[in-house]
Amino acid sequence: MEETAFRHLPLDVWGFINGGSGDEGVLRENRVALDRVRLTPRVLRGAEEPSLERHLLGRPARMPLAVAPMAYQRLIDEGGELAAARAARGAGVPFIASTLSSFSIEEIAAQGAATWFQLYWLRNRSLVDELVERAEACGCQAFVLTVDVPRMGRRLRDVRAGFRLPDTVRAANLPVEETRTASLRQHSTSAIMKHTAEALEPALSWADVERLRQRSRLPLVLKGIMDPADAVRAVGVGVDAVIVSNHGGRQFDAAPSSIRALSDVVAAVPSSCEVFFDSGIRSGTDVLKAMALGARGALVGRPVLWGLAAAGERGVADVFSLLGHELEDALALAGCAAVDEACGLTVSWRPDVPPEHGGERR
Ligand SMILES: Cc1cc2nc3c(=O)[nH]c(=O)nc-3n(C[C@H](O)[C@H](O)[C@H](O)COP(=O)(O)O)c2cc1C
Repeated sequence: MEETAFRHLPLDVWGFINGGSGDEGVLRENRVALDRVRLTPRVLRGAEEPSLERHLLGRPARMPLAVAPMAYQRLIDEGGELAAARAARGAGVPFIASTLSSFSIEEIAAQGAATWFQLYWLRNRSLVDELVERAEACGCQAFVLTVDVPRMGRRLRDVRAGFRLPDTVRAANLPVEETRTASLRQHSTSAIMKHTAEALEPALSWADVERLRQRSRLPLVLKGIMDPADAVRAVGVGVDAVIVSNHGGRQFDAAPSSIRALSDVVAAVPSSCEVFFDSGIRSGTDVLKAMALGARGALVGRPVLWGLAAAGERGVADVFSLLGHELEDALALAGCAAVDEACGLTVSWRPDVPPEHGGERR
């Protein structure tokens, strides 16, 4: 799917989607670490057709997956978030709509997927209030507050390409005058980096999280938690769930892999706090690994965009169909009759292979 997407996209859009921050070490580490996770299979447990169903934030989903919030999906396909949200509805998984979506939250929610709204805390507080009201009014089922973007990570592919949005794409949830910078070519930075610096509040604090908690009765999820101490603090202010994520390697370029951070966060919070995972999920087996380490669900990022680039709504549907089949295979082969049994599997970590030997040795 990734290769097909590459053939369909202009190089600068490809760089925006696939790139990470700095030397992209975190981007690579997310994959290396997931590949090192080993699960010991169980046998003779009668797992004929494992069930993939799971409750996410108290509502049933057909698989323990959701579409990660991703900005500006019309860059990739004219149908953008609408096509991806319809595919999510078809797959029976939640669609998390970004504040920086290229269709409005009302249009996205109208596609009929379980919709969660991802909130970026904007400098313009009245806009935040307005977005919260709009998301509630159009039936969003949860707020996902992203907390790992005090500023945008330096994504060198975008800087080098002088990346900017074409005139046909803009952050449709925001007033036109609040979005213009993102389409103007900038000197030695990318236009979306400049726009993020202008629009997003760099000093978001726990007090803001508490205020949001008080404003809305919808489930509140914090996205971008890596340290168990932050997860504990989140529970203390009434957050319902956290997403262990390093933003797909796009933010802090010295962060550990997200999968390495997962089990310590799971161990630190009470079971009432659901822990989600993202950053690096590429197969159903990866999903099982996250479940074995205690995640309730996993968010799928770039693969959704690759599907969108390859074949619009059908491409995203194919991505979820593949992930579903692979997860079912993985559960059966590991001896789990249902996703809930994954957390009973024994997890080990393949040791690091010294780089001079490169890859597998016979
Ligand atoms: C093109 C792109 C745009 C993104 N935009 C947002 C966003 O608007 N808000 C957000 O919280 N995360 C955003 N993310 C991060 C994703 O939600 C998610 O954390 C990450 O992509 C997961 O890693 P993966 O792509 O390796 O699966 C974006 C990621 C990509 C690739």
